[in-house]
Amino acid sequence: MTLAGKHILVTAGPTHEPIDPVRVIANRSSGRQGFAIAAAAAEFGARVTLVAGPVAIATPPGVDRIDVETAGQMADAVMASLPADAAILVAAVADWRVEPATTKLKKSSGPPQLRFLPTRDILAELGSGTDRPRLLVGFAAETDNVVEQAVAKRQAKKADWIVANDVSGDVMGGSRNRVHLITAQGVEDWPEAGKDEVARRLVERVASALA
Ligand code: CTP
Repeated sequence: MTLAGKHILVTAGPTHEPIDPVRVIANRSSGRQGFAIAAAAAEFGARVTLVAGPVAIATPPGVDRIDVETAGQMADAVMASLPADAAILVAAVADWRVEPATTKLKKSSGPPQLRFLPTRDILAELGSGTDRPRLLVGFAAETDNVVEQAVAKRQAKKADWIVANDVSGDVMGGSRNRVHLITAQGVEDWPEAGKDEVARRLVERVASALA
């Protein structure tokens, strides 16, 4: 099984949405699962573009990495990297941003009233876009009703597959993952495994779907 000649686009890590020049809205994504998927795709011979939020992980060998900070920057970098044969969107993209203050908010001014604005939904944009990758894979991080919510997300965002994981434990910082693969055919429960192992297994599936 090979991905030679294929372009695989991967997003990974959190995004940081600035509040002011020193503060951000962030999340607990470590980027490990997405980086492992990018690494596995490169090992399978793909040209890999990895759009990474702020993480402290080395770039895997053979992977072209674009570093971004915000959801808006991630969306721009993904769209600029098309066309791709497959896109695997692993990043924990912020759902909301605020209009950042240009100078540091001072404690003496009292608690700020943050006005949240929606960010662009990269997966949904790709799902409905004209340059849609042939295989579009999303992740769904859930703490409850994991499979049901992921099944709904697959349809709502027009993804081909959703990899659902239960993040009520320490998955987001940890090195292991237990996922469910949701496709048009149904739901597969994969055994708990290291994130590298989950990545290899997913990339093998991608390779056979694109073959
Ligand atoms: N995603 C994205 N752009 C966003 C938000 C999410 O591309 N602005 C992608 C993620 O990379 C993931 C999938 O959408 O592949 C699902 O992300 P998730 O955060 O679980 O879903 P949301 O749509 O944000 O819904 P909710 O947070 O309400 O569960």
